[in-house]
Amino acid sequence: MDIFRIEGPARLSGSVNINGSKNASLPIMAAAILASGESILKGAPHLSDILVFSQLLGQLGCKVSRNRNADLCIDSTVIDNPVGEYEIVCRMRASICILGPLLARCGRAEVSMPGGCAIGDRPIDIHLRGLRELGAQIHLKNGYIVAEAPRGLTGKDIFLGGPFGSTVLGTANVLMASVLAKGKTIIESAACEPEIADLANCLNKMGARISGIGSPRLIIEGVRQLQPVEYEVVPDRIEAGTFMIAAAITAGELSLHNCRLDDMMAVVDRLRNIGVTVDAANDGCVVSRSGPIKTADVTTQPYPGFPTDLQAQFMALLSLAEGNSVIIEKVFPDRFMHVAELNRMAANLRKEGPTVIVAGVKKLVAAPVMASDLRASAALVLAGLAAEGTTVVSRVYHIDRGYERIEERLNPVGAKIKRESV
Ligand code: EPZ
Repeated sequence: MDIFRIEGPARLSGSVNINGSKNASLPIMAAAILASGESILKGAPHLSDILVFSQLLGQLGCKVSRNRNADLCIDSTVIDNPVGEYEIVCRMRASICILGPLLARCGRAEVSMPGGCAIGDRPIDIHLRGLRELGAQIHLKNGYIVAEAPRGLTGKDIFLGGPFGSTVLGTANVLMASVLAKGKTIIESAACEPEIADLANCLNKMGARISGIGSPRLIIEGVRQLQPVEYEVVPDRIEAGTFMIAAAITAGELSLHNCRLDDMMAVVDRLRNIGVTVDAANDGCVVSRSGPIKTADVTTQPYPGFPTDLQAQFMALLSLAEGNSVIIEKVFPDRFMHVAELNRMAANLRKEGPTVIVAGVKKLVAAPVMASDLRASAALVLAGLAAEGTTVVSRVYHIDRGYERIEERLNPVGAKIKRESV
């Protein structure tokens, strides 16, 4: 198991390229199931989540490989085992998004229930509600969802809202099932995340007929068949946001390339609000901080609100603000595994239900800390960059799920991170 040994404080300065989006790549990989033949996915990052999803597609009967341009090639000519095994699904909840495309392609699917994880319960009731509306018969058997649509799926007007607003992968599942359904489907309260817009644009390039892309109302005219596609995924806005916060927490200056500020207005708004400079540049932006970190109130919400996937990283930054900030987590109310770990580094955080009061401190102090989930782990790395001394982050495999060799991208711009196997 790897650990990171991080020398702080560091000041980051230089350029970083942003990779393709993990959370766009995963549902688009699932979309390849919908069209028999080889689809090529350009810009899919080299992450363990992508590897696991590739294994999952292989179990279904697909052939998945990287070509010499490092594009992900998915040949879905043969799908002879529409089953998502527990061993894989329990490692990555996003596996659930094979359900919709398998139903549309094969008329049946068996996928293990994802179960909970460090950021909280991961219910799929809305996924199943939407698929039932399209005519799927769904029941549970030994922890597996068994979904059947022997006579195919039929378009319907579907409301996909839940207690926390929209669902990203729930929208992906229902959208992918509806593109081959008979007739018209309306998905009301669809997720508006850029990753879902990217999925919809990819599906349209495959021959689907989707309108309202990027809005909470998607309108889908079912078609008979889709074609394999060559598609380039959008840049990873969460990775970009993480690097922006890295520049801010080290009072440095980073030029980020291949990042779309339009997808990150809530994040840019909060960064500017606390005294961080964010200037648009040709294919990305320049982020810097020289003055004090001011306090802020941050509430996470579905897009276009402040993304829950940057809540932990932003909390690490606000830990060094001059005064008290308030962070309210409205998407995954239990997503606070990083609070205790940051407090070990002399942060002053107090959790009250889905709210954390962040009392700013003058400095963070290095300590041994433990990663728990992907984004909490990134927050610990950022805190280690700013803290005085050597911070040791264990269970680094959590970070490798969403950030490609993060130490090899931060060290050239001034970080001192050593990866060690223990
Ligand atoms: C996606 O997860 C992302 N994962 C998550 O990123 C991200 O945090 C999340 O969306 C929110 O933006 C991928 O795209 C692979 P949801 P998803 O369904 O789709 C509740 C990362 O770090 N809900 O939008 O699983 C749910 O409990 C990961 O990259 C139901 O109640 O999230 C949550 O409170 C972590 N019933 C809220 O909705 C359902 O059927 C939003 O969840 C589905 C969801």
